[in-house]
Amino acid sequence: MFYKYEDGHGLPHDPLKAIVAPRPIGWISSRSKDGSVNLAPYSFFNMISTRPCLIMFCSEGSKDSVSFIEETGEFAANLVSANLAVAMNATSVTAPRGISEFEYSGLTAADCTMINAPRVAEAFSTLECIVTEIRSPKDRHGNAVAAIMVTGEVVGVHISEEILTDGLVDMTKAQPVSRLGYMDFASVSETFQMFRPRWDVSAG
Ligand SMILES: Cc1cc2nc3c(=O)[nH]c(=O)nc-3n(C[C@H](O)[C@H](O)[C@H](O)COP(=O)(O)O)c2cc1C
Repeated sequence: MFYKYEDGHGLPHDPLKAIVAPRPIGWISSRSKDGSVNLAPYSFFNMISTRPCLIMFCSEGSKDSVSFIEETGEFAANLVSANLAVAMNATSVTAPRGISEFEYSGLTAADCTMINAPRVAEAFSTLECIVTEIRSPKDRHGNAVAAIMVTGEVVGVHISEEILTDGLVDMTKAQPVSRLGYMDFASVSETFQMFRPRWDVSAG
């Protein structure tokens, strides 16, 4: 099938988020100026540069995560393992400002090292970030859309020793959870390796 986006898909549910999948989940923790803490999952999340290491998440409309981060310029991105999937989902509740999703979902808020935001103590890794940009992406007509993209530079990295095998991060141990479409999620239980090809000049 093919559909012109503006004409609609004609399917029971929008297929796009099921197509652009699996998406990693950035479990974003932040603290407001007045000291309230916040935690919420964002699957519009990724790493976009290595040196410096930049990560981004995108909020569809302004939510507490964005307003807290606007106030302080700092946030942490925690990564979700399969055993934390239910707790992660619980933190997506639309709780009023001032209610800690850490408490609501029974998670432990630990201090970060380089920034003042809390982190999820149970997470297999946390990236401590300082904000570099907060802006709304534009559509093809140059109009700003309702989404707000937050980019941060990673200044500190926590890794649980439990997910290391011979010094390498072992995703079969971490079992990261990713977002698929609809109500579906996946976690990594198997991996395989490939090596990038080198161009053979003698092959012409
Ligand atoms: C797995 C998962 C991924 C999500 N990804 C996003 C996302 O990328 N962008 C977004 O705006 N909301 C996303 N949400 C919804 C937010 O988590 C939800 O609106 C939450 O209440 C926002 O919290 P906050 O207001 O404390 O920031 C997601 C929810 C779940 C369960």
